[in-house]
Amino acid sequence: MMNSRRNMIKGAAMTATGVVVGAMSPLKSQEAVAQQPTPHSSESVSTHQLLVGRVAFVTGAARGIGRAIAELFAENGANVAMIDIADPSRLNSTQGYRVSNMADFDAAIATVQQHGTKVLKIQADVRDLAAMQSAAERTNRELGGIDIVIANAGYVAWHSFEDGTPEHWRNVIDVNVHGVFNTAKATIPFLKQQGGGRIINMASVGSRAGFAGNGAYTSSKWAVLGMTKQAALELGKYNITVNAIAPGAVNTPMYRSEGQMRSTGVSTAAEQDEQVNAVSPLGNAGAIEPEDVAQTALFLASDAAKTISGATIDNALGFNANYTA
Ligand SMILES: NC(=O)c1ccc[n+]([C@@H]2O[C@H](COP(=O)([O-])OP(=O)(O)OC[C@H]3O[C@@H](n4cnc5c(N)ncnc54)[C@H](O)[C@@H]3O)[C@@H](O)[C@H]2O)c1
Repeated sequence: MMNSRRNMIKGAAMTATGVVVGAMSPLKSQEAVAQQPTPHSSESVSTHQLLVGRVAFVTGAARGIGRAIAELFAENGANVAMIDIADPSRLNSTQGYRVSNMADFDAAIATVQQHGTKVLKIQADVRDLAAMQSAAERTNRELGGIDIVIANAGYVAWHSFEDGTPEHWRNVIDVNVHGVFNTAKATIPFLKQQGGGRIINMASVGSRAGFAGNGAYTSSKWAVLGMTKQAALELGKYNITVNAIAPGAVNTPMYRSEGQMRSTGVSTAAEQDEQVNAVSPLGNAGAIEPEDVAQTALFLASDAAKTISGATIDNALGFNANYTA
């Protein structure tokens, strides 16, 4: 029941995306490519590749939301540089949560490669500006430019405000704030070189309100919106849009970890869903999947969003309707 409802919702979103983008003129000379409709199959409603010939630079791409974005972008014709730390020994694991390892990264690369566009695998830490600059230079050299930047890599340590330590704060702020800045700083020269582009930052419902037990994460995600607005103001003159996505609870290792469950007083994924659904207008739609967030990123990266900058799109089952703005 839940699956069929979700399939209907996904089908509708794809149809809407195809129709909207089909009606817009492309930002640059790249043309949307129509695929042959397949009668009597769900493919018959998805008719366009939206990112043909573009190059996307995606951080935190070894799993979860970043991986889903890399895959959807490749499916839409983009060449993709996938960046990830892919080494849990380089960042503290906490309460059942670790960053990706190389096996996760290799599996993600293999999946994205199946779509036939060029895929670059770059192991790099977003906390390290020099490493990000070298990742951007390599992407430019090997994929022929950078058009779309997805600053998605994220990290969390769960603790109460009072129990937070300088180390908790350093790790979370370093990845979620400095990492987003480093990603932008490393790639902006290449976006300018292309005559424009897109920066999409991964914020959170935690960018919009306080969430007890989320430690420094909430502060770090509020900062992502501040950076998004400031960069949008300054980069518009280069034809670069800067926007953010604020996902709700997404079905990924970050959300399903023991720390996240403990912070909200539950112990199973089913209890988590029940809790979220109870406070969400679209609570019957089931958990948000990484692929749902990827569709929002695809919209912001596509020609359909060429006049949108400094904005944040909530993908949160409507939970965001509780916010004041
Ligand atoms: N899952 C959710 O419910 C949710 C909700 C709102 C926002 N978000 C945000 O979405 C983004 C993706 O989260 P996810 O749920 O897919 O999490 P995830 O833990 O599944 O994936 C995060 C990825 O980022 C990588 N990463 C972490 N630190 C890095 C670093 N220093 N350098 C390079 N890569 C690094 C990890 O290895 C991992 O592959 C994050 O910014 C997260 O804060 C997630």
